[in-house]
Amino acid sequence: MRFAVTAILGGLLLAGTALAGEFPVGDPVAGKAIAGQCRTCHGLDGYARIPIAPHIGGEPASYLRNQLTAFRDGTRTHEMMTIVAKMLTDEQIDDVAAWFAYPIATATLTADPSGAPQACIACHGADGIAVIEDAPNLTGETNIYIDTQLKAFRLGKRTHEVMSAIAAEMSDAEIRAAADWYAGVKLDITVPN
Ligand code: HEC
Ligand code: HEC
Repeated sequence: MRFAVTAILGGLLLAGTALAGEFPVGDPVAGKAIAGQCRTCHGLDGYARIPIAPHIGGEPASYLRNQLTAFRDGTRTHEMMTIVAKMLTDEQIDDVAAWFAYPIATATLTADPSGAPQACIACHGADGIAVIEDAPNLTGETNIYIDTQLKAFRLGKRTHEVMSAIAAEMSDAEIRAAADWYAGVKLDITVPN
């Protein structure tokens, strides 16, 4: 059954690829089983359980898939995630991305939204919930995580056509201010029944 559905979806997606930039749809049920390998750090719902791991629940599936593929291919590196990603097949990446995309992330601002970094809100929102398809949520990530990623973009250790250009223009103080803003927004992740 799974194969039949996947084949149909695959056909539809192939037809739509050029237009929408779509990617294969994973199976969130199969992904939940794989997420058992992620839970000590990211939680089964994607709400991080250790300070150095980011919250990933409710992120766009396309973003999760891109990052896992980047860790596996070595275009993004991290001592833990590189090892984890190398054990995943393309299908497992699609499935686990579908699982972590399934929960709903909500943000509660604890300060006036006029204080949000203006250069970021068009894509990441004032509250850190992404407003474009391929951008991640920043809500409630630790300021150290956000700071580290922006500096990785600035240094070229992590690359993305948009973020590399944005980070290249940022001072340490601007990076810290943006990181503190998004770290200060309260994140909740709920898994729909
Ligand atoms: C031992 C802890 C650990 C385990 C297990 C782990 N991760 Fe991670 N993960 C991390 C850390 C730490 C980072 C941050 C990497 C960095 O700083 O670049 C991360 C980053 C990520 C990111 C990038 C998120 C973003 O916002 O860019 C994704 C996606 C991800 N992990 C998915 C997974 C999946 C899926 C699994 C299970 C198959 C998993 N991780 C297992 C620790 C872990
Ligand atoms: C035009 C859209 C756009 C704007 C404006 C933008 N971003 Fe991004 N941002 C993205 C996209 C897309 C990604 C995903 C990059 C990737 O796939 O590696 C991203 C990724 C990030 C990440 C990595 C998050 C993670 O979970 O690893 C951080 C941190 C970030 N952006 C911070 C900022 C900050 C701070 C600003 C404002 C100074 C900003 N961005 C402005 C689109 C944008």
